[in-house]
Amino acid sequence: MMVVIPTIKQFKEHIGIAKQAGISIGFVPTMGALHEGHLALMRRAKDENDLLAVSIFVNPIQFNNQEDLKKYPRTLEQDSIMLESVGCDLLFVPDTLEMYPEPVTDQYEFGKLSEVMEGASRPGHFNGVAIVVRKLFEIVEPDKAYFGEKDFQQLAIIQQLVKMIPLPVEIVPCPIIREMDGLAMSSRNLRLSENERFIAPLIYQTLIKAVKLNTLLSPEELKKWITDKFKSHPEFKIDYIEIAEDQLLQPVAHWNDANSVYIFVAIFLGNVRLIDNMRIF
Ligand code: PAJ
Repeated sequence: MMVVIPTIKQFKEHIGIAKQAGISIGFVPTMGALHEGHLALMRRAKDENDLLAVSIFVNPIQFNNQEDLKKYPRTLEQDSIMLESVGCDLLFVPDTLEMYPEPVTDQYEFGKLSEVMEGASRPGHFNGVAIVVRKLFEIVEPDKAYFGEKDFQQLAIIQQLVKMIPLPVEIVPCPIIREMDGLAMSSRNLRLSENERFIAPLIYQTLIKAVKLNTLLSPEELKKWITDKFKSHPEFKIDYIEIAEDQLLQPVAHWNDANSVYIFVAIFLGNVRLIDNMRIF
């Protein structure tokens, strides 16, 4: 049976008892509107630990766009059923006032990693993510915490955060889960219109083709090739396309500049902003 806990104090009591008994804790922080992408993280966490803890908290301070915060889907009832199905033991659903009794002023410095892509497009976003994830880690005290590569830069930020502080938690990266047609699963997909949802797989299809072109084109040419693919579909508005290495996520000018290189994209479909990425090598 899953226990649903709304306050920090109560949650810490449960964790204290588990810790005393030497029980290992796997943790998956989420903002709810759960889908198979989230559940994959949870199944793995359940498998690798004695106890599965999940949090659902739509973190206001990581939204740089108030409209996005307001429209973020909230589906707690359905989420609970999904959580039961993966064997979630503890569900933490704090309210905003308890998480942020006072205005937050912490400023984290992630250097170059936070200056590109999501960091550049969404000012303050990663600072808000770092603040909430640190708070959650201090409440949940997980042995391992699971993050999706769908949000590749967020994962890199969290890895830097736990090294920087430091926090005694192992960060476990998990692969992107996609719909049958290739669209990366995301809570925001619920906000796509029927037509937008129909054409959204173009992002995945384009990434798949682009990955195969790396032997023929330079990174700059490949970026242009991807941009041109979307130009012929006016419904898509590119926020960024980057070809970057996998450590500090800096753009590469030549394929031999790094050991591992990914394509990262952020694209508006209507007013829904979708992100995706794919490893080239
Ligand atoms: P949220 O968007 O709910 O995502 C929770 C976790 O699920 C993140 O680690 C995310 O990368 C992962 N995830 C989402 N879609 C996925 C997919 N299609 N495949 C694999 N993993 C996927 O990310 C956040 O919440 C927040 O920023 C949070 C870390 C909870 C801090 O507020």
